[in-house]
Amino acid sequence: MFVIRLTYYSRNQIDHSAGSAIRELGAILEASSKNNNAAGLTGALVFDERWFLQTLEGRRTAVWNTFKRIEADERHSNVMVVDARNIRERIFENWWLALVKPDGSDREILATFLRNGHLKPDEMTSEQILELMAHLSKIGSSRRLAPSFSDRFRARESILSYE
Ligand SMILES: Cc1cc2nc3c(=O)[nH]c(=O)nc-3n(C[C@H](O)[C@H](O)[C@H](O)COP(=O)(O)O)c2cc1C
Repeated sequence: MFVIRLTYYSRNQIDHSAGSAIRELGAILEASSKNNNAAGLTGALVFDERWFLQTLEGRRTAVWNTFKRIEADERHSNVMVVDARNIRERIFENWWLALVKPDGSDREILATFLRNGHLKPDEMTSEQILELMAHLSKIGSSRRLAPSFSDRFRARESILSYE
């Protein structure tokens, strides 16, 4: 059994207006929590109003099958795989979703990865993107948005502040 880690970034195509961002991100969070748990996938999806950055870890077939479904999703576009490799150990404990808020409490943590205060994965090398995700995996435990009820509530708060 091969375990791999796949990382990609893409353009966020979710309309920021009205309640639609909350609804769409809530739906992604819900589907992902359910499916990824069932498929034994760990990782993280981070986003801001322009970009998604995601890492998925798990069995090779499970990761690629999930990725194919995600890639076809019209809520994002220009999906760029930056890395896919066999791994001995996972760096994410479970699956979570987080909002990158460069002007919020993330500023310090993210400072070295931002360009003029913004997340710009298209201007980062694969190594820099992997470093960012590895960094987030370490701090993730305190900020992760897991599928339990209380955590989902936190997720909604986080999504709310996205608008
Ligand atoms: C940026 C982005 C990331 C996503 N990540 C996942 C994911 O990790 N796992 C997942 O099952 N679906 C993910 N989705 C949603 C899938 O594209 C798809 O809508 C969903 O898997 C369908 O699930 P369902 O058949 O259970 O309704 C993501 C969608 C987007 C736009």
